[in-house]
Amino acid sequence: MNSEGNRVLLLVGSPKAPGKSVSEALGSYVIEKMEARGWSSESIFIRASLQSDEGRAALLEGVKASDLIILSFPLYVDSLPAPVIRAMELISALCCKKNARLAVIANSGFPEAQHNKVAMSICQRFAHASGLEWVGGLALGMGGALSGQRLEEQGGMVGKIIKALDLAVDALVNGESVPDEAIRLMAKPLIPGWMYTTIGNFGWRREAKRHGVRKKLGDRPYQR
Ligand SMILES: Cc1cc2nc3c(=O)[nH]c(=O)nc-3n(C[C@H](O)[C@H](O)[C@H](O)COP(=O)(O)O)c2cc1C
Repeated sequence: MNSEGNRVLLLVGSPKAPGKSVSEALGSYVIEKMEARGWSSESIFIRASLQSDEGRAALLEGVKASDLIILSFPLYVDSLPAPVIRAMELISALCCKKNARLAVIANSGFPEAQHNKVAMSICQRFAHASGLEWVGGLALGMGGALSGQRLEEQGGMVGKIIKALDLAVDALVNGESVPDEAIRLMAKPLIPGWMYTTIGNFGWRREAKRHGVRKKLGDRPYQR
């Protein structure tokens, strides 16, 4: 592929600050690999960009200039965070470069990757409504086990994720869709389910204690 069709845009859909989100860690890994393959890139944090006219304009310009858009987001209430939905509305009204493509990376807190299914369908509909070619999505469960650190620094647990992202990059740079094998690897549990829930429960209890509500965890204020 010549350099004309080689511009990738990472849209970070997590409302967390730069350096803090799993979405950014996953998306940045892909962008770095694509840069190493000769692609030019840009990264935009959606929440921050929507806070000013300049930011919104830069978001839309970034989208219009890109051959491939990668949206990396956390699952919120079985859907996408509100700023991402807003960005989708803005983008679909104005979109996009001819033959531009959309790939997404979803990550969720629940252990099973399948919780991301509805959000994936929303992204696919967005691509359709915006005239973007849908080239597939990767969905990850157990996002709570990860952090905003660079992916390579997050230990052996992320080996499957790295393999999945590498396969996706190989396909995307060749103009292909995200391969099934990458989707399968990404959806594999990072650690056993019981371990994830045990660690998660411990974390929630510790947070409750820190906020002085440890004894209120069993409260049911709306129960009749
Ligand atoms: C407001 C809110 C809603 C969430 N809803 C879900 C959900 O419906 N299902 C789920 O599995 N995780 C849910 N989560 C957990 C996030 O998807 C999870 O923590 C994710 O790893 C955060 O990614 P990030 O670091 O990129 O923001 C929710 C988190 C928040 C803050």
